Order: sequence, then C-alpha cells, then structure tokens
Amino acid sequence: MKLAISCDHVGIILKNPIKDWLTELGYEIIDFGANSEERTDYPIYGKLVGEAISEGKADLGIVFCGTGVGISLSANKVSGIRAVVCSEPYSAKLSKEHNNTNVLALGSRVVGLELAKMIITEWIKAEFEGGRHQDRINMYK
Ligand code: RB5
Repeated sequence: MKLAISCDHVGIILKNPIKDWLTELGYEIIDFGANSEERTDYPIYGKLVGEAISEGKADLGIVFCGTGVGISLSANKVSGIRAVVCSEPYSAKLSKEHNNTNVLALGSRVVGLELAKMIITEWIKAEFEGGRHQDRINMYK
C-alpha cells in the first residue's frame, strides 16, 4: 500500500516518527513535506496529499498540523477527498467503514506518538462497508 504524507511546521514532530514507523512496517511512503520547523502554511500540504490521492499516485493519505483541522479542511477541498481529523481510534475506524475516508488528519498538539499509532493502525486496517454507506456518500454531491 502506498501512503502519501505531509505536515506543516507544527505537525512535523509527529510526521517524521510516524513516517519512520510506517516505513519499518513495510508501507511505501510518499512524503510531500514540510521538512523543517520553519513557519509555513498547512493548506499547501493538505492540497498536495489530496491531489496525490485524487490522481491515483497513492492509496491513502495521512496529514499532520497542530490540531489536524486546518490541513484536513484543505485536503477536503480536492475533488474526491474525504478527509477526517481524529484524536481517538474509534472514530478513525468508523470513518473508514462508513464514510470511506481516504485522508486521516492528526494534530501534533492533540495526540501523542503512541496514540497516533493506534489511530493510524485502526484506520488503515478498517475496510469500507459499501451498501447504504455508499448511497449516503453519493448524496454528498
Ligand atoms: C499553525 O500555527 C496552526 O494553526 C496549524 O498547525 C493548525 O493547527 C491549523 O489548523
């Protein structure tokens, strides 16, 4: 599975260790930056990951900013993206099973590294259930 990841200058403290961990687990990672703690703007990085998913360059995306909110909103502006910000595993799991989310956003000021790993694990392994949930997704348009 190919994962696109990105962050702003605040999310980088979570993105880098998560990238190492996912790489160790055998995932192919496409890292769209940022690559330093120098102040930048999260919409740049949410959009990059959103576009990568929408263009089929990656299967899923994981994005990081201070709260996860701003970068999830920017990813959601890309056509075909359903990004969710989560701070616990239950919503992450259900967001994939029911809402077929394709981008997960995490806040580095909200969750620690080990909780982030639990959230990501549940989200990646969850499978979309289709059926009535697909009907509802079709109604977003
Ligand atoms: C940056 O200060 C901060 O606003 C950003 O990381 C994020 O939390 C926005 O939603």
